[in-house]
Amino acid sequence: MFLPQLLAKATKGEKLVALTCYDASFARLMVRCGIDILLVGDSLGMTVQGHLTTLPVTLEHMLYHTEAVARGASGAAFILADLPFGSYQASPEQAFAASARLLAAGANMVKLEGGAFLAPTIRFLVERGVPVCGHLGLLPQSVNRTGYAPQGRDVASANRLLEDAETLAQSGAELLVLESIPTVLAEKVTQRLTIPTIGIGAGPHCNGQVLVLQDLLGLTPKPPRFARDFLTGARSLEDAIVNYARAVREGLFPGPEHSV
Ligand code: KIV
Repeated sequence: MFLPQLLAKATKGEKLVALTCYDASFARLMVRCGIDILLVGDSLGMTVQGHLTTLPVTLEHMLYHTEAVARGASGAAFILADLPFGSYQASPEQAFAASARLLAAGANMVKLEGGAFLAPTIRFLVERGVPVCGHLGLLPQSVNRTGYAPQGRDVASANRLLEDAETLAQSGAELLVLESIPTVLAEKVTQRLTIPTIGIGAGPHCNGQVLVLQDLLGLTPKPPRFARDFLTGARSLEDAIVNYARAVREGLFPGPEHSV
């Protein structure tokens, strides 16, 4: 699936349903379950590789998993792939070289973490045919600076995030992930922007939601507060994923108990 088809869904007011995906068999299953966006997240450093952070994930790792997911999805889903730490921050040229390899591996869009400092990079990528998703709020690649605490909880940082969101969109980002920020702030960002927002721990007002697959399957030892185990009580993996997609589309997930 290409970006225009995805954006058309959001324009019609449909909630976008995203889930992290790291291999071909889950990609096939997620396509069957009607997941709109398969996110090859660098969270694979934690969920698949067993690291404590996403920082050890390399571009080669991301290429390996993106290729596997693309083979499983066979063109039937939108594939969003993370640019891993250290593959895009140094310069727009570095970001383009890494993005080109991810697109060749089967990604339809790349995601990078950070605010206004990325504006020139985003412009550089978009002008060269690379669709870009921004990522604001809790930035796992910045864990050494911020820890895993929710972001945007005071007026100054909320205003900064709002400005960053506008800058990313003006620079050409066409999707924006908002992670672990207050519901009211995510609502404000979503109202202010014309590009879709995808929330994780950001309340119900975003244009779509994303979850880490292992959180949805109840496999994470200490899951974040915003996660929900959809497997407990379901009859199968397929049911769990279908129930998640339905809950997002019907506005039943996330509830207030999953929000900052
Ligand atoms: O890597 C990832 O799984 C992500 C989500 C937390 C949005 O970026």
